[in-house]
Parts: sequence; C-alpha cells; structure tokens
Amino acid sequence: MASEENDASSGRLLLAESDVVGQVIVSEEDLQSRIIELGAAITADYQGRPPLLVGVLKGAFMFMSDLSRAIDLPAEVDFMAVTSYGSATRTSGVVRIVKDLDLDLLDRDVLVVEDIVDSGLTLSYLQRYLLARQPASLEVCALLVKEGQQRTALDLRYVGFTIPPDFVIGYGLDVAERYRNLPAIHAYTGPES
Ligand code: IMP
Ligand code: MG
Repeated sequence: MASEENDASSGRLLLAESDVVGQVIVSEEDLQSRIIELGAAITADYQGRPPLLVGVLKGAFMFMSDLSRAIDLPAEVDFMAVTSYGSATRTSGVVRIVKDLDLDLLDRDVLVVEDIVDSGLTLSYLQRYLLARQPASLEVCALLVKEGQQRTALDLRYVGFTIPPDFVIGYGLDVAERYRNLPAIHAYTGPES
C-alpha cells in the first residue's frame, strides 16, 4: 500500500505520463506569478470603474478563477460559451454561441477573459458581438497568444504569455475535452485529429 503522498503524486503522474502530454510550455509557477501581475495591472487600470469580467468557456474557466482572485476591485463575473467549428486542433472561425451572457453589457466596462488566441477569429467574432451590446469599454485579457498566427488585427490590452504556434493543453485547454485539469500548459504530442 503506497503512502498518501505517493498516492497523490501518482495520480498526477498518471495524467502527465499519457502519450499526449508533452513538455511544459508554461509552468504552474510562471502562470501563477504572471496572473498576479495581470491582476495588479487590471486593478490599477480599473480604479473607480470595476470591470465586468466575461469568461469564454470552457477554456478560460481556470484562468478566470485565478485572475478574478488577483483583481482587488468589486468586479462582476459572467460567462459565455462558444464553439468554433473545425477539426480538434484547428478553428474554422465560424463561431456558435452555446451559452449567452446573463448580465447586461450596456455602459459596463467589459473585460473579456480568454484562454488562448490562435488565428484570432474567435475573438474577433466575439468582439463584434459584444460591442453590439454597447458597453462603455471593451478590452481583452488573453492568457496565451500564439506567435505569428493571427489572421486578423486584434487589440489585446493584456497578454499573459506569447508562445510558439504549436497546439497546447492544460490549465483549461483541452483536446477532445481532456487535459483541462493539468495545472500547467503542456505541448500536445498526440496524433493530429
Ligand atoms: P482562434 O479562433 O484560432 O484564435 O482559436 C481560438 C480558440 O481555439 C481558443 O479559444 C481555444 O478554445 C481553441 N484553441 C486554439 N489553440 C488551441 C490550443 O493550442 N489548445 C487548445 N485549444 C486551442
Ligand atoms: Mg476558447
């Protein structure tokens, strides 16, 4: 019978040792310290006008959880869920809204919380959609941006990390709904699907 400590670490190893979980791209430590910095910047920028944080499900759920706790303002939180058509690892840019917002955006200072910007097509669609709701301001905080992949000009107010243009998993990001619960960002080394 393994000790409790071994049980805990072997549970994590079972996940990390699958054949699709590659090297760490952004460590748990680096994620957490950068999120503290982003939270401090947002706190300073939004003094006197607490933001409405709009998380994009499912990928941003973990980032939203950590980022919102790093913001020292009476922020509000809402979520929308979108799916973009395409293969498992490539977006088509055609976005379907699966769950809409509960809160009204009119005259609110809206900050979109996104997991990752690849082609930028999803975000550019969302920005147009949200601007139509007439917020006072609309900015984006993206945890990850893939270098050199954007097919549309985007104004990203806050960016956590710029990463190479390879598919990644973990910290909310999935492949076929798995690996969202890894605490770090890893390379995906499975078959292209
Ligand atoms: P875009 O429209 O090409 O910018 O892709 C945006 C969405 O595709 C993101 O919000 C993610 O949900 C998903 N995505 C893009 N790249 C990755 C990745 O490397 N891993 C997991 N999901 C990704
Ligand atoms: Mg997403």
